[in-house]
Amino acid sequence: MKEQISRRNVIKGAGMVAVGAALAGMGGLITKAEAKGGSTEKWPWPYEKLDPEKTAELAYNEWYRVFCGAAVISSVFSQLRDRIGEPYKSFPIDAYVFLEGGMVGWGTVCGSNAGANIVSNMIVGPRIAGPECENGAAIGADALEWYSETKLPTFIPREPRQKSKIIQTVSNSPLCHVSVGKWMKESGYALGSPERKDRCARVAASVAFNLVKDLNAWKDGTYKQKSSWKPASNFGITGQQNCTECHGAKIPTPPLAKK
Ligand code: HEC
Repeated sequence: MKEQISRRNVIKGAGMVAVGAALAGMGGLITKAEAKGGSTEKWPWPYEKLDPEKTAELAYNEWYRVFCGAAVISSVFSQLRDRIGEPYKSFPIDAYVFLEGGMVGWGTVCGSNAGANIVSNMIVGPRIAGPECENGAAIGADALEWYSETKLPTFIPREPRQKSKIIQTVSNSPLCHVSVGKWMKESGYALGSPERKDRCARVAASVAFNLVKDLNAWKDGTYKQKSSWKPASNFGITGQQNCTECHGAKIPTPPLAKK
């Protein structure tokens, strides 16, 4: 009991709401009344403007330790740990290694995009938390659209680990499988090649650069949603919004909503 209370105080003192709630679920550290309705969660998280260039360098190097998703998270949160401390110090960055390869190698959403969405929704907040938090989702959606439409990687590290030329390709998709696949096809490099690895490290860095630009604008109060993103209900199905990329001219119509 004594131990439980002290651990609970540590969590409370840290203000580490998300991790606190997760721990509570496992160890019963927070009483049911406290946990009810998720009312212990507070957004936005404290943010100080970061240098996009420095953040991208951090992401590039972190890729070689924790891969794309955790590299993007680490590039932002490691700096905020130093400057602000909690709740960032308690956030388990390395747990997000699983985002690698489009989530444990399944080639779904590119981990860099997942990492960017985790960061924006942690800092700004989730859209259900109120109007002041809506831009968390908007910045995340911007990241997906920018990733899909941009020749990547855009970022060139100061000291590239690979000296050979790394070509840029447009994925037209936020998916790891499609993005990596199109780059491999055009470059001729295999998945296990140092060039492909450096390409993905640079992509993570490019995403981190772009993300911090948006977060800085949000902090200044000048952020405006750039993507055409709308809630999935507008299309009647969840999906990346360039339907023709996969369906060609014959885009299927989802079943109509039940009245
Ligand atoms: C990344 C590729 C991709 C994109 C982009 C995409 N789809 Fe799909 N979609 C699929 C695949 C694969 C299936 C499964 C097809 C099957 O079962 O034969 C599918 C299935 C569907 C279905 C289920 C019914 C059916 O006929 O298969 C609908 C409806 C649909 N898509 C609509 C859309 C719409 C609308 C968009 C744009 C908002 C979109 N899709 C974008 C790949 C995609």
